[in-house]
Amino acid sequence: MRSVLMRSLTRPVGVRSFASSAIRASAIKSTPINASPVGQVDANAVNKFTAKNITKPAAITGLSPTLKKFTLEGKVAVITGGARGLGHSMTEAFCESGAKGVAILDVLPEQGMETVKVLTEKYGIPATFYKVDVRNDEMVRAAVDEVARDHGHIDVLLCAAGIADSNIPAEKYDMTMFRRLIDINLSGTFVTAQAVANNMISKGHGGSLIFVASMSGHIVNFPQQQCCYNASKAGVSQLMKSLAAEWADKGIRVNAISPGYMDTELNRVPALEAQKKIWIERTPLKKLGAVDDLNGLAVYLASDASSFMTGSDVIIDGGYCTW
Ligand SMILES: NC(=O)c1ccc[n+]([C@@H]2O[C@H](COP(=O)([O-])OP(=O)(O)OC[C@H]3O[C@@H](n4cnc5c(N)ncnc54)[C@H](O)[C@@H]3O)[C@@H](O)[C@H]2O)c1
Repeated sequence: MRSVLMRSLTRPVGVRSFASSAIRASAIKSTPINASPVGQVDANAVNKFTAKNITKPAAITGLSPTLKKFTLEGKVAVITGGARGLGHSMTEAFCESGAKGVAILDVLPEQGMETVKVLTEKYGIPATFYKVDVRNDEMVRAAVDEVARDHGHIDVLLCAAGIADSNIPAEKYDMTMFRRLIDINLSGTFVTAQAVANNMISKGHGGSLIFVASMSGHIVNFPQQQCCYNASKAGVSQLMKSLAAEWADKGIRVNAISPGYMDTELNRVPALEAQKKIWIERTPLKKLGAVDDLNGLAVYLASDASSFMTGSDVIIDGGYCTW
């Protein structure tokens, strides 16, 4: 049986308090929807869970030179928002593709701990979970330092942590909610990228940073009003390009994945069911994306197969942005 180790980092961190804004809604329109699992910022230390009894992962053999470049052999990946949804699925794809280790930073301890237990059991690699709220700069930096100590190095960062508010008319947008979303989606992406890039720079090696943006950074969604989410994701996309330009000479590549409507818990809100029909109707492929539909691109961006690619934002949306 696997055992799980939990311990607290001792470094003190600042604690900021945010009101929980999760709202249950039954109407389709003009009803604010917040599908975030995040309530209060309640932790003042990073709790870490390490799955034990690591076995040697099976070697990936018999690949052509081209396919070999797609493997993540020897690479350690940090994933924010990897406890569930798209981040969780891409984390498993990294493991399947030969990653040497994975580290998840998320606010959901039960799901995060279960994820690293399952991944270690299935793939035989070290997988660690750190309870971190990406709004807490000190906690993010402390966790990234801890990941580097636990795994030896960091080669890949996938920023998937994010929340969505929707069906909020701009003229009624509450500023606490607005700032909270920007703090998680945009500032949280920046502080994590900064911490990981500083680690790569100090160790004198490059790496690959991957941001999960959204098609909402490219188009305005219909029919729901969600100006803050759309602006946050446009910000993530432009942040990605700025960092790609700044850090290219450090060997750090930065790219983004912009999904369309995906079938994840973020969208499994009863009040969105009727709107989903409209989303599907307006998507040329006539469906929502499956949770694993980003995995191939994530592995490509993390791997050496994409070594000449930086500053790109790739849309995976079933064709939504073509119309
Ligand atoms: N589902 C979609 O249709 C869709 C479309 C475009 C983009 N995206 C983006 O993809 C990413 C993943 O979305 P998902 O659909 O898997 O959602 P999800 O809610 O299932 O997963 C998001 C994860 O982020 C974590 N998280 C949220 N706030 C956090 C915080 N403050 N600190 C640390 N972790 C936090 C959550 O605990 C969760 O594990 C998000 O950035 C989202 O904006 C989703």
